[in-house]
Amino acid sequence: MDIQNKIINKIGILTINREKALNALTPEVLKELNQLVISFIKNKNIGVIIITGSGKKAFIAGADIKIMKSLDKKGGYEFSKLGQEVTQTIETSPKPIIAAVNGFALGGGCEISLACHLRFASDNAKFGQPEVRIGLIPGWGGTQRLPRIIGKGHAIELITGGQLIDSKKAFRIGLVNNVFAPDDLLKEVIKFAELILLNGPIALTDSLYCINIAAEKPISEGLEIEAKIFGDRFESKETIEGLSAFIEKRKPSFSS
Ligand code: CAA
Repeated sequence: MDIQNKIINKIGILTINREKALNALTPEVLKELNQLVISFIKNKNIGVIIITGSGKKAFIAGADIKIMKSLDKKGGYEFSKLGQEVTQTIETSPKPIIAAVNGFALGGGCEISLACHLRFASDNAKFGQPEVRIGLIPGWGGTQRLPRIIGKGHAIELITGGQLIDSKKAFRIGLVNNVFAPDDLLKEVIKFAELILLNGPIALTDSLYCINIAAEKPISEGLEIEAKIFGDRFESKETIEGLSAFIEKRKPSFSS
């Protein structure tokens, strides 16, 4: 097993554990990641998922380059589709998924973080899409998600330059949500996960769904879907409990 998984107080933590290869992802590890994310999504005892890397040096240094060296056209296409399947599983998760970026997040590693709903980084983390340096393009959704998250101009700068940027710049261009000292990173990410866990789980799922479709639908359609889901909420126990709790000046009790 190349991924450690544990559950602490409704928070599922997945740690990529290939420290010697800077947590680079092989097809096997990608498949394991997909299965673990799916099993955490199904697990009723988990409300928020965190993905991180083992050691202090890397989150994920990308797809495993040594394995890619032997790929042909078909193998390359399939490796791209596999990585895209995993990033789709993450992005469409009904439970929030947070990347705790504890070091290099390069190539496929940056792309895994882009699929997460939130990215928190240590101040020694480095981000980049350096694929062009080895004559490749991003293949796990980077050309599609990076411009959607940081804008086309910044995305083109990163993808064509292939340069690594530090957390400070990543924060400035909107690639990461916050930056912490390395020793505080996981603690702070767990703190944010605990904040999320106070909220209505179905409201969280519905919010993520609406935000995700914003990238795909014209605004008129997106607004209609938002209004429909907003309306549906008024028939749900969760919303009735949330509204009642506010009026009765007590904490809501949401069941998951
Ligand atoms: N694949 C396979 N092995 C990797 C790796 C990767 N992506 N990144 C690092 N490693 C391995 C190194 O080969 C080395 O192993 P050995 O000791 O057996 O040689 C070990 O991890 C430690 O790495 P370095 O000695 O290179 O460490 P460093 O501190 O000098 O440099 C680094 C760190 C800048 C991250 C450098 O390792 C590096 O540039 N790695 C490659 C990053 C990269 O290009 N990622 C994108 C891959 S392509 C991709 O991901 C395509 C896609 O879109 C899906």
